Amino acid sequence: MLKLVDLHSAYGATPILFGVSLAVNDGETVALLGRNGMGKTTLLKTIMGFLKPTRGQVEFHGQDLTRLTPHEIAQLGVGYVPENRRIFPGLTVRENLELGLSAERARTPAIRAERLEQVFQHFPRLKERLHQTGKTLSGGEQQMLAIARVMMAGAKLILMDEPTQGLAPALVRHIREIIAEVKRLGITVFLVEQNARMALSVCDRGYIMEKGLIVFEGASSALRDSPVTREKLGV
Ligand SMILES: Nc1ncnc2c1ncn2[C@@H]1O[C@H](COP(=O)(O)OP(=O)(O)OP(=O)(O)O)[C@@H](O)[C@H]1O
Ligand SMILES: [Mg+2]
Repeated sequence: MLKLVDLHSAYGATPILFGVSLAVNDGETVALLGRNGMGKTTLLKTIMGFLKPTRGQVEFHGQDLTRLTPHEIAQLGVGYVPENRRIFPGLTVRENLELGLSAERARTPAIRAERLEQVFQHFPRLKERLHQTGKTLSGGEQQMLAIARVMMAGAKLILMDEPTQGLAPALVRHIREIIAEVKRLGITVFLVEQNARMALSVCDRGYIMEKGLIVFEGASSALRDSPVTREKLGV
């Protein structure tokens, strides 16, 4: 579904990614782990087209994304839940969710209602807070809203950047359940996490990134048991 081939990326003259190759298959939940500053967010920004790669390819269902805009990439079915759960603080929960639909051509009232209903099934807490503004939600609820919004857009693949960052343990468990639920719905997930334990408990496989390169990969069980994981991540 998603295939990165020898991907290089830079901020101006400063190279950050040095040839990343990896693949995420249809229906899989795959983790990207790594310490601070290793290039994880940069990788997601490059996939989404916010940053143009200096070399290499990003393929989604065989289509090259590297010349497309973030908007076009979203329309193809790639959802992005950025770091620090960027929702619209002044808009209500409902408005935030409906913005998700603008990424899609077919947005009839029927589709809108159906998608909202679907989202409420998975996020009853959002339904109770429909008219509350984004900024009045708790951190965990904001994260739910950010994930729900890309589900509203009909994403087939969701890129999540550290969804559990700064959340209390109970909310981390809740986010983990949401990711498991997204997986059950058949949506493919590429999850960037510092919380390796959580990520490996919900993902099928994982990659470890160090200084802009993939240095280790394997099934979640193999990563959990490997001394390399401890060495690279300190967990
Ligand atoms: N806009 C930017 N301009 C210049 N350098 C940047 C920019 N954003 C990030 N960097 C640098 O790129 C490197 C990789 O950053 P990135 O945000 O991709 O790391 P990360 O793995 O997501 O880290 P974290 O786990 O802390 O979120 C860092 O050295 C960072 O300082
Ligand atoms: Mg980051």
